[in-house]
Order: sequence, then structure tokens, then C-alpha cells
Amino acid sequence: MERIQHSPLPGTLRDELVAGLNPASAGGIDQVRLKELTGLPPTKAIRALCVYFALVREQAPASGPVPEKVEAFVKQNPSPYDLLLQVEKPSLLDLGAGDLSFEEEFLDHYLPSLQHRGKDLTLHAVDRLQPGSQLGGAYHADPKRLHRLTRDAPDSLQFRFWGGVDMLDLSTHPHLLHEYTMVTCHAPATPTFAYEPTRLSPAAIHSHLTKTKGDYRTVRVRGEKALEVMHRGQALTFPHWKFVIHGPLALLNLAARRGALCILSAIDDEVFWEILAQLVEDSGMRPPDVIFTPETIPEIFGHVHQTLASLTIGERCNLPDATPLRRTLPVSTTPRERNPIAYRFRFVEIRRGAVFPGMPAGSTARRFRHMSEEVPPWHLVLVPERVPAE
Ligand SMILES: C[S@@+](CC[C@H](N)C(=O)[O-])C[C@H]1O[C@@H](n2cnc3c(N)ncnc32)[C@H](O)[C@@H]1O
Repeated sequence: MERIQHSPLPGTLRDELVAGLNPASAGGIDQVRLKELTGLPPTKAIRALCVYFALVREQAPASGPVPEKVEAFVKQNPSPYDLLLQVEKPSLLDLGAGDLSFEEEFLDHYLPSLQHRGKDLTLHAVDRLQPGSQLGGAYHADPKRLHRLTRDAPDSLQFRFWGGVDMLDLSTHPHLLHEYTMVTCHAPATPTFAYEPTRLSPAAIHSHLTKTKGDYRTVRVRGEKALEVMHRGQALTFPHWKFVIHGPLALLNLAARRGALCILSAIDDEVFWEILAQLVEDSGMRPPDVIFTPETIPEIFGHVHQTLASLTIGERCNLPDATPLRRTLPVSTTPRERNPIAYRFRFVEIRRGAVFPGMPAGSTARRFRHMSEEVPPWHLVLVPERVPAE
């Protein structure tokens, strides 16, 4: 009862569930109401509610590697993607896939080895850009690549791409797997993931965006809703959701729930520190309403900043060696994932740089190499696990 009452479910559903389960009411459990609410007969309904509210642990999917093994694997191997070669049913979900260049490079690299081992691969990709939209430019799924990946795919590859899909609203997509061997997000979108709404007020975010990007407003471009930003006297147009801020907690929760191993790559400096703040136990690194800037970051992150700033391109370090990892990742209210179970990361590796030998990369990472004035990006390898029930 307590778990239901404190859950993020809508109030009416919470009350109905409590009323349906309340053994103190005359006649005990209200089987009819429970059936209406869950669609299940009483014993199955109660079992499902116990799993949903994390009172019992659901069996891990047979093919999913356990977190301890995933951690040991990534510590010992230069390419975390090699994990796919080890598991029975390899699968990867790529979030914000853009032009699908990562998918192409990844398949060139891994499909032959997987085929050689007689393994089928499930590769799923989503992006919020609406196919056919005039906005979004080079990030649209490249039609020739899409054709190659779908029509010309061998039988051993199950590839699907969904455009016009917000990665934080995947719960209504029944074709996605419940859990993937790997979840990746290459060059997480900015400003979408650059500011954490549980730490920064809408007013602080808005004022910072206006100061750094320019005034912005919603307009229509040839009938399509768009965001117009006045940047240095020039009107730039983007998809209308470009400045919708989800924050890193939402992305981390999504990745932890869907992947046995998660990779966030080509992370720009601003997004990186905001993500990092959500990974560490020290709440002093999550000061309320303070925007992270090159001026404030060294002081806020102290010795962690010193350790990370000293990494050279291509170097890697284990975050738990620098500071304790957060014991529980707060359940973000943004993703409409159906499961309120708490997760955390048991291991986090940080690398400096855009591309790494033997590892596939997306087109944004490849572009970083030519941007000499850009601060080198960051790369995170994360091993999630459920927080054990107390
Ligand atoms: C910087 S681009 C990176 C594209 C590609 N992953 C790469 O590495 O080149 C960010 C991508 O995320 C997509 N995106 C932004 N917000 C999203 C969301 N909420 N759900 C899904 N995709 C999103 C954008 O449309 C864009 O394609």
C-alpha cells in the first residue's frame, strides 16, 4: 500500500488501487475492481503489482548479462561493444540516431563477426525528427542508408528505425524490446539534456538560453511549427521541440532501464557536467539553480574536475576511483516509462575524446575532429543495476 501511495501514478489510479487492495474493507480484496484496473485475475494481478512496485524481483531476461559480469567485461576490454559478441541474443537501441551513420559504421564493424558466430542481431534506432520535415537538416535519417539497412539487410539482422519518436515517450512502442544488451546515445542533444529541471528552475534555464543562444519564439515555416532563435542578428529555425528541456536524469533513467550496458558518446562539455552531477553521490555537485559554466565548474566539482581535466585525448578513468557513485538514481518524472523501480549505476567509465580505435562512432563524433576550437567531448560507459529492495 505504501509503495502505491508514494508512487508517481496519477492520483485517481493510486486511490483506486489502494481501495481495491484494502484488506481492511469489508470482504477483503475487491476482485472485481482489481480486474477492472489490471485486466488480470486476482492472483496474477497481485503478482504483477508486486513486480511493478518492486516488492519482488522480476526474473532477469534469460539472454541479458548480469551487471557484475558486464562491469568485469568493460573493465577488461578496450571496446565495450565487444560485449555483443559474448551474449546469446545481442541487441542495441540507439537513441537520437540522427543520420544513421553510427548504425552503418557499427554494422560494418560487428555484423560479420556476429554472423561468423551464428548470432542474429536486433538493432533499433529512434529519432524525434519527423521524416519529411523541412527542419533538422543533416540529422535526418539518410534515405540511402535507411534503404540499405532495411531492404538490403541480411536475414541475421533485425533493423528498425522509428522517426518522429520522442525517446522519452517509448512506453507506447510495443515493438521495442523491454531490455537491450546495449543502449547508446551519441552526441546527446543540446540544450535538451544540458540542463537538469530538478536542479534548475524554468526561469534560470530560460534566462541562460536567451543569454547564450538569443531570443526565441514559436513560428510557422511553410505551415510547419518551428522554433525561431535570433542568434547574432540572424533568425535560425529548428524543430519546434528543440528547446524542450528533458535533462540528463531522464536520459540516464531511460538508458538504465532499457540497457544492460549504456554508452553516451561525443558528449559536449556543457551536457557532460550536467550528466556527471547526476551520477555522483555528493549533492554538493548538484547546487540548486546554479548554471554550470567554465567559471563555476572547477569550484563545484573540485578534485573530480581536476582528475577529469587532466585526462588527455583517448585516456580513460573509472569515476568510482575519483568519487562515490550515486546510491540511487532518482526516478525522473519525465520519461513515461511504466516502471517506477529505482536504478543506479554500479560502474561508470569516463573517456576523453570523440572517436576511439576499434569503436564505431556517429557523424557528430567524426565532425568533432575537425573542430579545433571546440572543447574535446566526453564519452561515458555506464553499467546500470536495479537498486536492491530493502
Ligand atoms: C546532436 S544530434 C546527434 C545525432 C547522431 N546521434 C550523431 O551522433 O551524429 C542529436 C539527435 O538527437 C535527436 N533528438 C533530440 N531530442 C530527441 C528526443 N527527445 N528523442 C529522440 N531524438 C531526439 C535529434 O533530432 C538529433 O538527431
